[in-house]
Amino acid sequence: MPLLIKNGEIITGTTRYVADIWCEGETITHIGENLSAPAGAEVIDASGKFVFPGFIDPHTHIYLPFMGAFAKDNYSSGTRAALVGGTTTIFDMCCPSRSEEPLAGFETWLAQAKGHACCDYSFHMGVTKFDESTPDQLREIVGRGIQSFKIFLAYKGAFGIDDSELLQALSLARELGVITTAHCENETLIAALQTELLAEGKTAPRWHYESRPPRVEAEGVHHFLSLAEVARTPVYIVHLSCLEALEEAIRARLRGVDVRIETLISYLLLDKSLAETPDFEGAKFVMSPPLRDKANQNILWNALQQRLIDTVGTDHAPFDFATQKKMGLHDFTKIPNGIPAIEDRVNLLYTYGVAAGKIDIHTFVDVASTNAAKIFHLFPRKGTIQVGSDADMVVFDPGYRGTIAAARQTSAVDYNAFEGFDLHGRASIVTLRGQVAARDGNFIGTPGRGTFLARPRGQRS
Ligand code: URP
Ligand code: ZN
Ligand code: ZN
Repeated sequence: MPLLIKNGEIITGTTRYVADIWCEGETITHIGENLSAPAGAEVIDASGKFVFPGFIDPHTHIYLPFMGAFAKDNYSSGTRAALVGGTTTIFDMCCPSRSEEPLAGFETWLAQAKGHACCDYSFHMGVTKFDESTPDQLREIVGRGIQSFKIFLAYKGAFGIDDSELLQALSLARELGVITTAHCENETLIAALQTELLAEGKTAPRWHYESRPPRVEAEGVHHFLSLAEVARTPVYIVHLSCLEALEEAIRARLRGVDVRIETLISYLLLDKSLAETPDFEGAKFVMSPPLRDKANQNILWNALQQRLIDTVGTDHAPFDFATQKKMGLHDFTKIPNGIPAIEDRVNLLYTYGVAAGKIDIHTFVDVASTNAAKIFHLFPRKGTIQVGSDADMVVFDPGYRGTIAAARQTSAVDYNAFEGFDLHGRASIVTLRGQVAARDGNFIGTPGRGTFLARPRGQRS
């Protein structure tokens, strides 16, 4: 059914104006004033509301076997949660273990998503080992529409690779023209600090931070960017959390390294004191790199507004508190790492960023949607509102007032790290390729309609 969105204030990364948007099939076909709808069209009155491009989460873990557990969401629940919160496209991390072949891992992630995902999706392809059979497999995966790799400096034995593997991965990325995303923490330092802390009987969640202080992350960023500089290939730092790491990334940028930076909604709004919450509740806030001192929050907000940081993701990694996080009750190194946020990222970023005056509304659109589309080869199909783009839109009500509660969430995990946070504004109607997929916090779309986005090769926008 054709769709007409009337009288909304259309906001992109660069423009702001009131107009009507006409969509036929899956695409925006006309933008203008006083458009009228033929009989049978669905009409949405967006008067007094913003109309944003569908938001893009550049970093999620929906299917994630990790640290002895499986993340709680599947592609059905996780992508419904995304849509409810205004996210219409996700980049999930395809993370095969070191004992798995990349192609087999890619097929596994595709099979998990296909027919179940409700929003659109692509993957960053995890390069979790590099041997003689790796290059041809990665070439095939790139040929099938994956334009980004993911590497881990941490998690040795699970996903982490050594420097020789990393250099080979970066060289291949350069040859294929794909961007390499990276989890940057120095594994040797982490292992030494963990051993020291556990030997001192420091086993509670709060000690997770002490095992991964800011210098551990900064060293990882410096290290990764030094290799990228020599390999002369574009890179992207995932989940950057603190000033020390940001300084390393900016230094590299000044030397000419083509590096993009992502931070997370969790680092902007949560701080390390939460991991000290008694009765093991602190485990809900254990992720890597860890939540930082509150002072880092303003630094990250300023870096967003000054466009030093390119994207805000979630790193959605949902592990139940009652069972899975409890695996680390007597040893913080066994707490599955991760904080879920896929459902709340957009509303929180608007509330505590735009409404609170920390970032302007165009920066908001850029860091939560447009920049990811540009960096990862989806623009202008995704990430903007223009004729020819997919009809992914968020009619956003800035007058909404509410509070976050796990009891009302769509994600399958049993807690919400932002429990009790007030919201000033929310995604009220969300369209995916011309169909209404969510309304007022409820998924009303077609189950399994999400599509794998084969990304075109070539220059990034
Ligand atoms: O703690 C985190 N970030 N968990 C998910 C895996 C990763 O490192 O991205
Ligand atoms: Zn990571
Ligand atoms: Zn991650």
